[in-house]
Amino acid sequence: MWCRTAISSNFCSMYKAKTPRSGPRHESQSGGAGALALPGANENPKERTIMMENEKKTVGVMGAMPEEIRLLHQRMTDRGEETAAGVTFYTGVLAGRRAVLCCAGMGKVNAACGAQLLIAKFGADALIFSGIAGNMTDKIGVGDVVIGKTLLYHDAERRMIAESWPHLQEFQGDPAMIAAAEAACGEAGVKYLVGKIATGDDFVGDSATKNAIAAKCAPDCVEMEGAAVAHVAAKYEVPCVVLRAMSDNADEKAYDTLVDKPFDISEYCATAARICEGLICRL
Ligand code: ADE
Repeated sequence: MWCRTAISSNFCSMYKAKTPRSGPRHESQSGGAGALALPGANENPKERTIMMENEKKTVGVMGAMPEEIRLLHQRMTDRGEETAAGVTFYTGVLAGRRAVLCCAGMGKVNAACGAQLLIAKFGADALIFSGIAGNMTDKIGVGDVVIGKTLLYHDAERRMIAESWPHLQEFQGDPAMIAAAEAACGEAGVKYLVGKIATGDDFVGDSATKNAIAAKCAPDCVEMEGAAVAHVAAKYEVPCVVLRAMSDNADEKAYDTLVDKPFDISEYCATAARICEGLICRL
C-alpha cells in the first residue's frame, strides 16, 4: 500500500527537522530522488527505510481556494513554479514531502485537467483535494468537514461513463489517506465525518435541486470537483482523498451564506491549510 506506515505526529516533527533542504526534481544539484542526502538517516535502519521511501513520493494538492494554496506555498521550501493549461503549479517540499500545489478552477473539467497534470506532468503519486461544499446531512453543520470515502457524479450518466476504464460508477478515497485526514482533522479540533460526496457542475442553491440529489444518491455534501479528481486518480491508480468544509446547506440561503459569511472562507483557509499539512506529514 502507498501509505503503509502509521506515522505519529512526533515522526512528523522529527521528519521535518531532518528534511534535507534539497528540492524536487527540478533542482539540478540533487541528481534525482535517489541521490538526496538523508542527514542522520543511518542512525536507525528502520527510520532510514521510511525516509528513503518518503523521498520517492510527490503529493499533489489541489485547493479550491487560492488563499489556502497561498498559505501552503508559504510553508514550502525549495520552491519553484510552472504554468500549464493556464494553471500555476507550485513545486517544493512541504511537511517533509515533495509537493505540487495548484488551484485548478471550479467544475469537473477544470478539476480533471488539474489532477491529470499533477499526475502525468508533475509526477504526483498521491492527490489531496481540499475545498468547501454544500451540506446535505444533519449529522454535521456549517464549518464541519466531510472526508470523502465515496465520490460520485450526481449530474452524469454514470453507467455509460463506467464503460471506460476504470469501469467505476463511483470512486473511493484511499483508506490510508482517509485515516491520515481523520487524524489531521482531530488534531485541528475540527468535527468531521467520513462519508459520501456528490459532484456536479452546478452550484446547488435551492431545495428542489437539493432534494432531487438527495433522492438520487443520498450524499453527505455536494460540490463541483471531487468525483472528477477521484475519477482521474482512479484512472492512474493513484491514491487520493477529498476534504470538504461545509460552507452552506445547499438551499436557498446557500449563495448568501457564502457571500454574507456566516462561514468565513478566509478564516477557514488557515484551518484547511493546517489540516492539509497535518495530513501530508502522516503519509
Ligand atoms: N460548494 C460550496 N457550496 C456548494 C453548493 N451549495 N453547491 C455546489 N458546490 C458548492
